[in-house]
Formats: sequence, structure tokens, C-alpha cells
Amino acid sequence: MSSSITKVAIAGATGNLGPSVLKQLLEDGFKVTVLTRKGATHTFPPSVTTAEIDYNSPESLEKALSGQDAVVSTVGFGGLSYQPSLVQAAVKVGVKRFIPSEFGGDAENEKTASLPPLHAKKAVTDLLKKEAAAGSITYTSISTGPFLDMAVQYGIAINVKGRKITLWDGGDRPISMTTIAYIAKAVSEVLKHPEETKNRNVHVHNVNLTLKELLEQAKKVVGPEGWTSEVKSTEENLKHAYAELEKGGNATMQFLVTAIFGEGYGSDFKNVDNKLLGIKEFTGEELQDHIKRFAN
Ligand SMILES: NC(=O)c1ccc[n+]([C@@H]2O[C@H](COP(=O)([O-])OP(=O)(O)OC[C@H]3O[C@@H](n4cnc5c(N)ncnc54)[C@H](OP(=O)(O)O)[C@@H]3O)[C@@H](O)[C@H]2O)c1
Repeated sequence: MSSSITKVAIAGATGNLGPSVLKQLLEDGFKVTVLTRKGATHTFPPSVTTAEIDYNSPESLEKALSGQDAVVSTVGFGGLSYQPSLVQAAVKVGVKRFIPSEFGGDAENEKTASLPPLHAKKAVTDLLKKEAAAGSITYTSISTGPFLDMAVQYGIAINVKGRKITLWDGGDRPISMTTIAYIAKAVSEVLKHPEETKNRNVHVHNVNLTLKELLEQAKKVVGPEGWTSEVKSTEENLKHAYAELEKGGNATMQFLVTAIFGEGYGSDFKNVDNKLLGIKEFTGEELQDHIKRFAN
């Protein structure tokens, strides 16, 4: 099995993360095929090949993945249940590397994996490990922490516009976060470093800081006045999430909040692969520039 990867198929190239991954792979010279679902109306650059797939048809997946060196999945929560079919098709046609749609907290953390919305991610990682152990494929999962962009833009970590912050459990726990652009770079660099990233979970982050430290950085951008903060418990939040689920509601975001900010969920990356994958650790000024984008 040659280790060089040139042909890459992407599933879910049209959401929050996928377009940046597609752009980065094209910039880095990969030959990219985007898997599209029937009826899709998205348009892609002329250098992209598209392959129509039906996730319920193994034949259509095998046809689309035939000749590909790698599959990158950036499917959202709605598409996670289709990933095992994608892995099975990739194995069948001899794809070398599979990058599953992880892109969250530590993909190896058992406490996180036990949360209901993340069961489908664990299932695909387990399948990939089994296939990798049998020598049928290789995989890399990429742990990034919350997307720094979305965490600031949508007030998940801090609401800069509204000058509000929830200090989960007091706000003293460090959290690793990465921007979408750098996550896309991590995907591309993994494919350029297949041996160093083979059959393991890589970790990247641009920042590793507490919510209190994030608040101090935001104050440097928009000023110290007018801020309100509240302290909430991630354990209480988790109880509410299970209660909501019990009632048949959608508690995905609530579960994710506990996974991001709770104790023992692995959001504080100690050993990162930044150097191998060319991921920048932001200075205070660089973080402030990032916060500025979402300040008005
Ligand atoms: N750490 C974080 O802060 C953070 C934030 C956001 C996302 N993420 C993770 O990053 C990954 C991508 O998330 P995203 O927000 O980019 O996802 P998304 O925008 O919700 O969806 C990405 C793509 O998945 C495909 N998809 C969505 N629903 C589907 C369904 N029901 N069936 C089949 N395909 C479906 C669609 O692509 P097509 O229409 O092209 O097939 C869609 O454009 C996920 O693993 C997510 O958990 C992490």
C-alpha cells in the first residue's frame, strides 16, 4: 500500500466546516471529489469532480469511492448515522485513509463518548479501529475543541456583542479551541503526513485558555464596561439535557456544552500535534483580532 495520498473524496462538503476543508484541499493540490446527494443544488469550483451518491446504496458509495486514496467526512449530526456505510464502502474499494467527522473535543474521551449525541461518532471510530486492526484501512480522527469562530460568533463561549458570558463551573477550566480555517489546514496536513498520523487521534488548537481569560481578552477588544456574567453548573446542565431528551426534545447543544466545559470531558488538550500539522498557537493579540471579527 503506497502511503502517498492525492485523490480525496469529501462527504458533507457544504456545511459549516466542509467548504473550508474543500478550499484548503484544492489549494494544496489534492484531486478532490465531492459526494453529493440526489437533488443537491450546490455548486463547486470547476476543478472539483462531483459524484452523486445515495447513502442507502452501498453500490453507489463504492462506485464514488473507487480509486480514491482518502475519504474525509465533514457530515453534520444529521449525517453521522451514514458514516458506517461510507467506511464499509471505503474498505471494500481499498481507500487508504478515512478521516471521520469528529472535529470536537478529545475523540478518545470515554465520558464525552457516553453522551447520547456523540454515540454515533464513537460507533464510527470503533468501526475504523476494527478495520484498521485488520489492516483493511487506516484512519485519523482530528480533535479540535470547539470551533473558535462559532464559539465567539454564536455566544457559545462568549457573547462579545451582548457583553455576556456564562462562566461554566466558575470559568477556571482551560479549553482548547481551533478556528475553522486551521481545522481545514489540519485535515490537509494529516493527508500530507499519512505515516505520522496513521491510526490515531491527533489534537490541534489555536488557543487553550479559561473562560475568565477569554473574557479578559474580549474586554481588551470592546472595553471593560457593561459586561454581565453568570456562573452555571455543567452537572445541572447535563441533568436538564437528559430531562429534555426524556421528553423527546432536542438537547444536542446542551449535551455539547457539558462536553466542552465540564470536568473530565477532555477539552483541555495537553499534548497537541500543532508542530507536525503547522497549526499556530495564537498570541493574545491574534486572539483579540479574531474576537474583533465578531464584536459588532
Ligand atoms: N467543535 C465544534 O465547535 C463544532 C462546531 C460545529 C461542528 N462540529 C463538528 O464538525 C462536523 C461538521 O459539522 P458542520 O457543522 O459543518 O455540519 P453541518 O453544517 O450541520 O452539515 C454538514 C453537511 O453534512 C451533510 N448532512 C447534513 N445533514 C445530513 C443528513 N441528514 N444526511 C446526510 N448528510 C447530511 C450535508 O452535506 P451534503 O448536503 O453536501 O451531503 C451538510 O452540508 C461534525 O462532526 C460536527 O459535530 C464541531
